[in-house]
Parts: sequence; C-alpha cells; structure tokens
Amino acid sequence: MLILKKIEAVENHLKQLKKRNLKIGFVPTMGALHAGHISLIESSRQQCEVNVCSIFVNPTQFNDKNDFDNYPTTLDKDIEMLNDVGCDVLFLPSVKEMYPEGFVNKNKVDFGFLAKTLEGEHRPGHFDGMAQIVEKLLRIVKPDKLFMGQKDYQQQLIVSKLIKKLKLKTVLVISPTLREKDGLAMSSRNVRLNPEARKLAVEISRTLKGVKAAIHHPKSNIQQVQEWGGKRLSGFKGIETEYFEIRNADTLEPVDLKSKKLVALVAAKIGGVRLIDNMVLN
Ligand code: PAF
Repeated sequence: MLILKKIEAVENHLKQLKKRNLKIGFVPTMGALHAGHISLIESSRQQCEVNVCSIFVNPTQFNDKNDFDNYPTTLDKDIEMLNDVGCDVLFLPSVKEMYPEGFVNKNKVDFGFLAKTLEGEHRPGHFDGMAQIVEKLLRIVKPDKLFMGQKDYQQQLIVSKLIKKLKLKTVLVISPTLREKDGLAMSSRNVRLNPEARKLAVEISRTLKGVKAAIHHPKSNIQQVQEWGGKRLSGFKGIETEYFEIRNADTLEPVDLKSKKLVALVAAKIGGVRLIDNMVLN
C-alpha cells in the first residue's frame, strides 16, 4: 500500500491511474479502524479497481474539544489492517496540509433542516466541518464511488446532498452498519467504553430492535412507540439519552401520515462516551 501525505502526490498518482480508465473507490475515515471500515474497503475492492482510504481526524467537525482530544488513534494497527484488506493508497495528511489557510469555511453549503436537526442540534457546527473536509477530500481524490456506512445516518444524507449541490460525478454507496455479536454498532469510540459502560451500551440496539418490532404491530402509534423507546433507554442508570426519535428516513422531518420510510435515531452518553445508532424501521 502506498502511503501519501501530500495532496499533490495523491492527485498526481491518481491522475495516472484515471488515464488508464481505472475506477477509483474511496473510503474517508478518522482512523481507529474497525471491521465496519474494513467492510467498506472490501465493498470498494469489489466495485472499483483502485481503492483509496484517508485517515484524518478533522478538527473542524468536533464541537467538543474534549471529544477531539480523546479521539482514539491507532495508526500502526490501522495501517496493518489496510494492508491486510488490500487497500492501494492511504492518504494521511496533516492539519496544515488540509487547512493551509486555517479553519475558515468560505464556501459553506446550506443543507437546511437536514443539518440543523438531531446531530446538528446537539453538535452545533459538526456538519459544516464534516462537509468542509469531505468536499476537500472529494476534490482531491475525485473518486468514482464513495463508500460510507449507515451508522452515521444523518451524515450520509448530508453527503448525498453535498454531492448533488456541488454537481460532482461521484456515486455514494452506503453499507449497512456492522454490529458486535450482542448488537452494539461498531464505532471507533467503543474502545473508550469501560467494562460497565460497554455492558450497558447494548441497550441502545436492544431498544432500536424493540421499536422496530413495536412499529409493525397493527395497533401501533408512532408517537407512543417513540416515547416508549426514549423512556426505555433513559430508564437505565448510566445512560444519558440526548435524543430518541422516529423520523422520515429520507428527510429526517418529524413523521406524518405521508412518511412511508421511517428511521429511528438515537444519541446517548454512556460512561462519558457519546454513541449514536439508528435503525430503518420498514
Ligand atoms: O465518518 C467519519 O469518520 C468522518 O465524519 C469523515 C466522513 C471521515 C469526515 O471526517
């Protein structure tokens, strides 16, 4: 695997490959890789000839300095995993390389309600920073396909809108969330859970599964099911629920009778670690 730290080096290398008509697949990450990331590289390998992964802990998408300072880094292990899965290029830029003129976002894209609700409400500025770096990365790598996980449900809707607004040719491919045996969604943050918090964390996916079962009951009422989910989760001592919501799966608007596809989304803090998860309900 080629490890490149400079934008110019990535652009020059990929330009040569594009001239040969090779399809480029891209998996952007913040490192601390787990099986979920690796499955994205595998999808890329199945669908594209050249596979690029980036590792960059993006400062502008952290609204909480403590979260940024404590974000796990496991670079040696990440490189080993990427080599094992057959990744071709790892882009490993510095902050200076990605933000040579500082963090000011001159061309902020307006995502409207989609970026203001849920994560947008609880992590102000998060999606602006995320979109800022994803746009930069897409303009450097110019992938034919971009691979992301359903775990970050709101993020993938915003990236899809970003690609449309910028009129990029990249196709966004979303892969299902990978889960641990007990149902906990895989996340880089899971390594920060202490044993007690790790045990409790399973209640997030259990509640989502409970909601999915309840919504299919002929007499179910969306509002009641949502309340049940939120109350169930908050009922556990040690779980601090930020939100538990059932929304329109395409727009994240609160549900009405027209909403055909529903998604339940949750954010909760357990043992000081903020976790998110979601489940499409139909
Ligand atoms: O999902 C992530 O890991 C990050 O938000 C991303 C897309 C790599 C941008 O920093």
